[in-house]
Amino acid sequence: MRMDDRLIVALDVEDPARALALVERLGGRVNFYKIGLELASHPGGLALAESLATQGKKIFLDLKLHDIANTVERASAQVARRGVTFLTIHAYPQTMRAAKRGAAGSALKLIGVTVMTSYDDADLAEAGYGLRVDELVLRRAAQAKALGIDGLVASAQELADVRRAVGPEMILIAPGIRPAGSATGDQKRVATPAAAMAAGADCLVVGRPITEATDPCAAAEAIQGEIAAARG
Ligand code: C5P
Repeated sequence: MRMDDRLIVALDVEDPARALALVERLGGRVNFYKIGLELASHPGGLALAESLATQGKKIFLDLKLHDIANTVERASAQVARRGVTFLTIHAYPQTMRAAKRGAAGSALKLIGVTVMTSYDDADLAEAGYGLRVDELVLRRAAQAKALGIDGLVASAQELADVRRAVGPEMILIAPGIRPAGSATGDQKRVATPAAAMAAGADCLVVGRPITEATDPCAAAEAIQGEIAAARG
């Protein structure tokens, strides 16, 4: 993986015009962008994703697909035709198998979401599960690996365990990143770029520490410096 593909900036904004302004401001400094449900639900959101991909930017489309197998397969095939690099799916075995069929023969990499970090053990019990969060994360990580899923999103607190469980090949992507001294905002369990890399992350997803910085380019550069130092 190229060093400048390790920083993924989250375009968590309302509309494509704001997103494009950010991309232009970051210029050649940032190569990889995450587009989530908010922007993808805007009429121009997916068009922006495709247009940035055509211009050589890498796109992480964070749609967290989960539906009946036929729908997931067809949606993944559709995303694969947009030139997107990463697509998230919920790490349910049936969903992962279907997404694999849809993405077959394309360059699209599938990224599994094990258990949403907004869930704790009580939320899982309420939803009818008999496992704790840490148990379900590792079970789904192992299933994702067995099914040939390319990578996983892993929060800072589960990164090291997930890396130990899946080995070196799977791509681990860590959100909730805060450079030392920056505001945590609504994130509760954060890690510095250096700590996340040391725990086994391959890529970091960073939103507000860059998008709300007075100098977003300098903020991105500093994080890339930390990533490079952590990779040795
Ligand atoms: O602004 P901030 O750096 O907190 O943005 C982090 C991005 O990563 C957001 O797009 C958020 O939805 C996403 N994310 C997260 N925590 C997770 C999974 C995804 O913050 N566990």
